[in-house]
Amino acid sequence: MEFKSVVGWRRSIRFFDPWRGVEREKVQCILEAIYRAPRVLEVDFVRVLVVERDRLSPEKMQALKTPTTTAQLDMAPVYVFFYADVSMLESALNGANFRELIRLGVLNPSHGWNERFVADTATPYLRAVVDDPDRVPLRPPSAGEEAGPMVSRETLRLARTAIGIAQEYALLAAFDQGLAAQLSGVSVNAARAILGIPDTWIPSSPMLLGYHGESREAGGQRPREPFEEDFFELRYPHPFYREPAVVQRLTAAEMIQAPAPFSWRMNEVRGLARKFGLPE
Ligand SMILES: Cc1cc2nc3c(=O)[nH]c(=O)nc-3n(C[C@H](O)[C@H](O)[C@H](O)COP(=O)(O)O)c2cc1C
Repeated sequence: MEFKSVVGWRRSIRFFDPWRGVEREKVQCILEAIYRAPRVLEVDFVRVLVVERDRLSPEKMQALKTPTTTAQLDMAPVYVFFYADVSMLESALNGANFRELIRLGVLNPSHGWNERFVADTATPYLRAVVDDPDRVPLRPPSAGEEAGPMVSRETLRLARTAIGIAQEYALLAAFDQGLAAQLSGVSVNAARAILGIPDTWIPSSPMLLGYHGESREAGGQRPREPFEEDFFELRYPHPFYREPAVVQRLTAAEMIQAPAPFSWRMNEVRGLARKFGLPE
């Protein structure tokens, strides 16, 4: 699919064909896309774990559910869990990733990069992030569980940024292959126990993956606040001028699509509920 059209067709899909699994090669393609996502400070934070729904017991499925993730967890045949291993920041302190990129001509003297800069500036900068005194528990304490180890708040910020980028690559790679997907919260404690997640990994919402159980339109493109409230130029709050001709071009390219709700959406939702045995 063309990029603009992938962006346009991506929307959170909450009805999946429960009986239609996802081809392994399509799952691998998603992982290959994530593998090529940009890397925060050259730190290899991202860890991704793929689970087929049918490998989990009903008890484990129930434990994963949250108030905002219910039927879609039962319907999606594949879950892609995202984590960031915060210990990788410490592993990066030896500067090896920076040196490799210097050797490959990616980080260059034109931009201040050389062996000395790695030793005197770049790795001490990483060290300062690791040692920053503004510290928070990696995991807040919860019933019956101790809080995780303390890490700097900045480490968590970088790690979460890495996960967010990975999630977006995954979503676009899914829709590019004609799949349906949604990021959806799960109980992070249950997921940690079920999946055997190491202590230094922080979680985010997994991607539920499958084929559309609802129409691809899924009722139309979802609402956002006005463009001018989100995008600015020169100085806040001066809005970025939204050129109508560009909007028209992006509409032709399917990035901008008809907004929700379609006139037939509520009938579709009722029909889907009946088809899948869900509450109406
Ligand atoms: C990190 C993250 C977590 C999300 N968790 C949930 C969730 O638990 N349940 C849900 O129904 N939607 C969840 N969503 C989907 C959003 O609700 C959705 O993206 C938003 O309504 C915008 O609609 P769109 O994705 O269709 O454009 C999540 C989205 C993100 C980015």
